[in-house]
Amino acid sequence: MKDKAIELAPVDKIVAGYSHDYDSNLIAILQESQDEYGYLPKSVLKEISRLTDVPLTRIFGVVTFYSQFTLIPRGKHSIKICNGTACHVRGVDEVKDRVKEYLNVTEGQTTADYQFTLETVACIGTCFLAPVMMVDDRYFGKLTTDTVADIVKEYSN
Ligand code: FES
Repeated sequence: MKDKAIELAPVDKIVAGYSHDYDSNLIAILQESQDEYGYLPKSVLKEISRLTDVPLTRIFGVVTFYSQFTLIPRGKHSIKICNGTACHVRGVDEVKDRVKEYLNVTEGQTTADYQFTLETVACIGTCFLAPVMMVDDRYFGKLTTDTVADIVKEYSN
C-alpha cells in the first residue's frame, strides 16, 4: 500500500525528544510514532531511519518482530471478540456475525471510515461474562445479537 501524503513533522519532533541515543530508544520512538499515526506508515519509518541513521532494514525487523506494531492503518477503535471455549459455547459466533454484518468487515479488517478494526482473540479472562468482547480497553459481556450492535454504535462518530 502506498502511503497517502503523510505529515512528517510529528515524527521529527518525536525523534528530537531522544537525545541521540537512538538505537536503544528505537522501540520507544516507534511506539510514540504509532500512537501519533495509529500505525507505522512506510514514509514514517523511512524518516526515522533518515533522522537516526538506524538502517531501514533494522527498523523493519523490529516492527515485524513485535506484535504491538502494525504497518497497516487501523481503526480509531479496536474491537476484540473472544474466540475462547466458554464464549464459543455461549454463542459468540452469532454475536461476531452480527458485528461483522453491522460494520461490513470480516475479521482482521478495518472499516472504510477507519472507525473500527475487528479482531478475534483467545480467551480474555472474563469467561464468567461470556460471550465477551473488548472495545478499546473496555469489556462488554453477556452479549447477544440484539445488544452488540448498539454497543458498537455508541462508539461511532
Ligand atoms: S473464553 Fe471468552 S473470556 Fe474466556
